[in-house]
Amino acid sequence: MAAKGKVGIIGSGLIGRGWAMLFAASGYEVCLFDILPEQVSGALDNIKMCLQDLQKAGLLRGSLTADEQFGLISGCSDFNAACQGALHVQECVPENLELKKKIFSQLDAVADDNMVLSSSTSCILPSKIFSGLKHVKQCIVAHPVNPPYYVPLVELIPHPETEQSIMDRTRALMKEIGQSPVSLKKEVDGFALNRIQYAIIAESWRLIQDGVMSPEDVDTVMSAGLGRRYAFMGPLEVMHLNAEGMKSYVERYGETMQRVLSTFGPIPDFSGPALETVDAAMTNQTPSTPEALTERRRWRDARLTGLARLQSDMDNS
Ligand code: NAI
Repeated sequence: MAAKGKVGIIGSGLIGRGWAMLFAASGYEVCLFDILPEQVSGALDNIKMCLQDLQKAGLLRGSLTADEQFGLISGCSDFNAACQGALHVQECVPENLELKKKIFSQLDAVADDNMVLSSSTSCILPSKIFSGLKHVKQCIVAHPVNPPYYVPLVELIPHPETEQSIMDRTRALMKEIGQSPVSLKKEVDGFALNRIQYAIIAESWRLIQDGVMSPEDVDTVMSAGLGRRYAFMGPLEVMHLNAEGMKSYVERYGETMQRVLSTFGPIPDFSGPALETVDAAMTNQTPSTPEALTERRRWRDARLTGLARLQSDMDNS
C-alpha cells in the first residue's frame, strides 16, 4: 500500500494522537515524535486500541482497515527524522509560547520550501510564534477541536506573511482528511471559536452572578435549546430561517437585539460568590476527581460519536 505522503507530528499527547489518526485514515504516512519516548509508545498503544474499537463499532474513518491505518503510523525518537521530507508538520506540544518558538526554530532549520509548518495552538497568535522565521510564509495555525475525530472544525489562521497558497493548500488537506476547515483572513486574539465561546460563557456567568438563573438551568438553555440547532447550523442561518430571510429578521428583531445587548454588563471576573455557586453546581453533577471527570468525558464522547454517526447517516440518505 503506497502512502500519499508524509506528515510529521511533534508532540504525541491528546491532540497529536488525534491528528495522527485523522491523517492515517486518509492514507498519509505519519511520523510521531515526542520529547518523552514513553509518550510515543503510549500514543501508539492507545491509537492501536482506538482504531480497533472504532473498527468494531463501524466508526472507522476512511477506506483502510484499522491494521492498515496503524501500519501507516510510526514512532520516531529523532526530531529531524520525523520532519524531513514531510509535506506537512503539525506541532502539538503544550500551550507555551517559548516552547512553541523553540520547536518552530528547530523546524525552520529542517524545512524545505514545500513543507507546511503548522501549529495546533488554541490561543497563541501566529505573529507571536512565527515572526522572524526563514520559512514564515509557509507557517500557519491549524487549531482543531477536541476530540478531532468527532468534532471536525479546524480554524486556519495565517501569520501576516503567510502565503495564500499555504492557506489554500492546508484548507484542501483538512477537507481531504474529512475535517471542516474555516479560514480567518487575519489573526485575532481568541481566533473565532473561542471569541464566540467566551461571549456565551460571559453572558451565562452574568445570568448566574445577577441571580437570574441557576447554573444547571443556564446549561440547559444551551443543551436543550440553542445547542440543538447549533449542532447543524450556525447563528446566522438560524436568523435567516426564523423570519422571511435575513433582512426580514433584522427588520423585526434588530432593535430588540440592540436593546438587550445594551443591558449586558461588564466582563465578569470569574471569581467570588458566582464562582462558588457555579463550582458547587458542577461538582454536584460531576465531582472534580480524575475518575469522575474521565467517566463524564466518556459519556460526552459517546454522545459526540452518536451525533457524528447520525449526521453522516442524514447527509448520506
Ligand atoms: P498534551 O499535554 O496532551 O501533549 C503535549 C505533548 O507534547 C506531550 O506528550 C509532551 O511530552 C510533548 N512535548 C513537550 N515538550 C516537547 C518538545 N520539546 N518536543 C516534543 N514534544 C514535546 O497537550 P495537548 O492537549 O495534546 O495540546 C497540544 C496543543 O494542542 C496545545 O497547543 C493545545 O493548546 C492545543 N489544543 C488542545 C486541545 C485540547 O482540548 N487538549 C484542543 C485544541 C488544541
